[in-house]
Amino acid sequence: MNNTFKGGLETQSHEITLQELAVEGSIPHWLVGSLIRNTPAQFEIGAQSYRHWFDGLAMLYSFTFENGRVSYRNRFIESKAWRENNETGEIKFPQFGTNPRQSLFSRLSTAFKKRPIGGNTNVNVARFGDRFVALTERALAMVFDPHTLETLGVYDYEKTDAQVSTAHPQFDFARNIGITYAAKIGIMSSEYRFYNLNGTKLDLLATIPTQKLAYIHSFGMTEHYLLLAEYALKLSNVLAMIVIGKPFAENFEWLPEEGSRFIVVDKASGKIVSEVETEAFFAFHHINAFERDGEIVADLAAYPDAKIVQQFYLDALRADGAGIASSEFRRYRIPLRGGGRATYELVTDENIEFPRINYEQFNGKPYGCVFGMSIQQGTTDFYNQLTKFDVTTGAVKKWYEADCYPGEPVFVAAPEASNEDTGAVLSVVFDSQRDTSFLLVLDGRSFGEIARVRLPQHIIPFGFHGQFFKEQ
Ligand SMILES: [Fe+2]
Repeated sequence: MNNTFKGGLETQSHEITLQELAVEGSIPHWLVGSLIRNTPAQFEIGAQSYRHWFDGLAMLYSFTFENGRVSYRNRFIESKAWRENNETGEIKFPQFGTNPRQSLFSRLSTAFKKRPIGGNTNVNVARFGDRFVALTERALAMVFDPHTLETLGVYDYEKTDAQVSTAHPQFDFARNIGITYAAKIGIMSSEYRFYNLNGTKLDLLATIPTQKLAYIHSFGMTEHYLLLAEYALKLSNVLAMIVIGKPFAENFEWLPEEGSRFIVVDKASGKIVSEVETEAFFAFHHINAFERDGEIVADLAAYPDAKIVQQFYLDALRADGAGIASSEFRRYRIPLRGGGRATYELVTDENIEFPRINYEQFNGKPYGCVFGMSIQQGTTDFYNQLTKFDVTTGAVKKWYEADCYPGEPVFVAAPEASNEDTGAVLSVVFDSQRDTSFLLVLDGRSFGEIARVRLPQHIIPFGFHGQFFKEQ
């Protein structure tokens, strides 16, 4: 057991700009644009502390590539939460695992409103039309300048009463439309919803009623369908959530006897075309999905239970020897007609989290390759290697370096690439021996290192997701 990763879970309050960083190896000349990533970076507010990894105040950072040169900058998202928390020295807005100290009256008066949302959008980034946004699991995003990372304002969706959403919208390039998930929580029943993104308008596409809302972090998409996996981690008592005022995450219960359910929605009509059950499981991330012979093949980074949500509490992560669960690379087969059950097999014995694919060309289609973070077998402390998976054969290639903890591997396809994996894989790594972070550039095909760019005396906290944006 090795706990040297813990330096990646500490507050980073310095905002810096580094114009030209030393490059070991060489950056491909076709790699032009910016890797922009989102991370929780402040975990203490005055004398108070956030409790969960998902709670920290959002910081954007970017590595910008031009003619083989690399620059870096980072900047907090200047949200209402960031401003009011730091002005008052108190946590003022609810987060996933931490609530502000609030009176019952205050909780009741705000529980079913779209706000109070502090705009602490710390999970992912995306481009909606000509605007760059930071996303979290709320129906609200923050707009930022992709060059300076300056916060420009709120991207306020119009006309939605949904309280929760996803930081993982899908993009249907064939139809040139974005699609997102949201949920409306009610005392007696709740609804899962899919929306087409139409500027700041959300056009309701589908409504799926449910007695107990499951915690859903992402959804799947094929050429014709959207795929909702309803896990067995469910909101069983909404009234208690409001009255008792427990943080959002603590109101979800693991209910394995209820099993899990896949719901397939037609992208064009919004109609539910298939609804099948399967044994209880949990996942944060869909990897990819596609249609084949009357069924949907759906790959997920799946857990047999939801303990991982508890293991991501900061006290648990920082505790000596605690460890985290590793997820399985499961391939589910979901019948499109005639009911039945969904079944799965493992694509490989290797674990996978924060999966990324060649999204623009292969999302929703049969595909061959996934990149992910994983935990080296025999260790359980934290994600400590990068893995490339051949989905067809189950074969893997790995990048590992002792005492280094890599983040989500973002694949960037080379221009006019003839293979799915021709390109570069970008991952930000915390080097616990040097107490700094570096950007690692791997070759997409060989998975060998082609460059690394070290940040002098600067740690980028472990974050969640980022995207590569070609020159804007
Ligand atoms: Fe995610």
